[in-house]
Order: sequence, then C-alpha cells, then structure tokens
Amino acid sequence: MLQKSAPIGVFDSGYGGLTVLKELKAYLPQYDFVYLGDNARTPYGTRSFGVVYEYTLQAVKKLFEINCHLVILACNTASAKALRSIQQVDLPVIAPQKRVLGVIRPSVEKVIEVTQNGHVGVVGTVGTVASESYPIELAKWGGGKVVSTVQEACPMWVPIVENNEAGTPGADYFIRKNIENILEKDKDMDTLILGCTHYPLLMASIEKFLPGKVSVLSQGAIVAEKLGDYLKRHPEIEKECSKNATVNYYTTESVDVFESRAGYFLGEELKARSIHL
Ligand code: DGL
Repeated sequence: MLQKSAPIGVFDSGYGGLTVLKELKAYLPQYDFVYLGDNARTPYGTRSFGVVYEYTLQAVKKLFEINCHLVILACNTASAKALRSIQQVDLPVIAPQKRVLGVIRPSVEKVIEVTQNGHVGVVGTVGTVASESYPIELAKWGGGKVVSTVQEACPMWVPIVENNEAGTPGADYFIRKNIENILEKDKDMDTLILGCTHYPLLMASIEKFLPGKVSVLSQGAIVAEKLGDYLKRHPEIEKECSKNATVNYYTTESVDVFESRAGYFLGEELKARSIHL
C-alpha cells in the first residue's frame, strides 16, 4: 500500500527560510519536506505581535491541512512572536498530536556548547530584537553559562540581501555600523547568533568586521542538527514523517517571481506552486 506523504513543514515569511531548508535537506535527506513562503505578506520583521501571530497560525494550519505532522518555523520573527502562543494555546485545541518547533531554542542550545566566556550577541530584525525572546531563552536555558546577552536590530540587512546588494560597499557600510554598535554594547562578546534567515548570506562581510575571537552562529546547520536529535528523542513524531526524499515549494506570491529569486537562497533552482492562506 502506498504510504500517504506526511512531509516536515518549513515555514518562513518569504525566501529566507530556504537557507534553513537547504541545510535540513542536506542533513536529513531521507525525509519529505514542504516549504511555505508567505512572500505576499513579507516582511514580518517590522510587523506587530498580533499580525505575525495571525499570519503564522494561518500558515501552520495550512501546513497541517497538507498533512504535515511536524512544522518548523524557520523564520526568527515568527519563532519569536508566534511560536509560544501556537504551542501553548492553539496546538492543544487544533492538533494536540502535532508539533511546531522554532529556531530560537536550537540556537540557544548551540550557544551553550560554543561560548567560552558567556558573553553572547544577537543580531536580528526589529521584531525579533524587541520581543526579547533570545535574552529570555538564553537566561532560561543557558544553564547559568550565559552571563550577558546584547542585541542589535539590523533593519537594513534583509533589504540588502533581497535586493542582491550583498558584498557591495553600500551593504558593508550598514553591516560595519551594526557590528560596531553591538561590540560597543559588549566588547567581550565571544559568540554572535545570526538571528535572521537572511544573514548567512552576509557572512563574508559580517566576519570581516568582527574580531577573530567571535564565533558566528549560522542557524541552518544548527537547526538541522538539533532537528535530527529531536527526531531521535521523539520516535512517536519521527514515525509520522514520511521518507521519500521529496521537497515541494509553495509561495503566497507570484510563482514566477518566487522561482526566479529562490535559487539564490537555496543554492539550487526549484519549481514552486501557488497557495492561499
Ligand atoms: N524571515 C525573517 C526572520 O528570520 C526575516 C525576513 C522578514 O522580516 O520577514 O526574522
């Protein structure tokens, strides 16, 4: 009998989550994945709590409808502003046996493995930084190892990537400015979390302006590794995920526009379908 596909859902506000999906595909190639980019309503980084929560919940429900048992919020802003409510308020009512996970907790777990002196920095969207999710989670799950968390909102970094300006002098002006700002907040920072889907595409410039002692954590590989651990620890969820090595892509915007830009984030070309939330 043919097994019904039950892909792992990967949600993002637009293209950025493809940087996470790229690593998930590489690390867990046997699983089926479905990517949903809410390109019609991107960016989420500047939107209010209520709006990000509403949009994210719609996306999660849609992914459940297409038979996902497990959904990863690849978007930091959605993880920061919507995940907790979805896990605690919505899931018990709409799908108690399903799971929604984010990108903040795995990043916190990695920080604890990496930091030597407990001085941590976070760069992210205005929304992620304002939510204080990283400092709260680092204090809660840091096992006393994190002594200080400083944050810097970098509102220009997403438009730099989206407009294909990475590596240009104009882009470097803003990246340098934000890096100098965060170092001013804590010159002892030894670990920096790139708390936004787009920032790995700016890695070369970010590293150029940071002292060599700072470890820069890019989330895609971290989320993939931690998801692998999670699936081992939760066989009841793992057995629900189908394994035919397929990936399907959906966007809420024009398919043609999505396909023409997505390859830059995923590292390979793709074919997408349109979806309404
Ligand atoms: N995906 C978002 C994040 O990781 C960045 C883009 C946006 O603002 O929607 O926070």
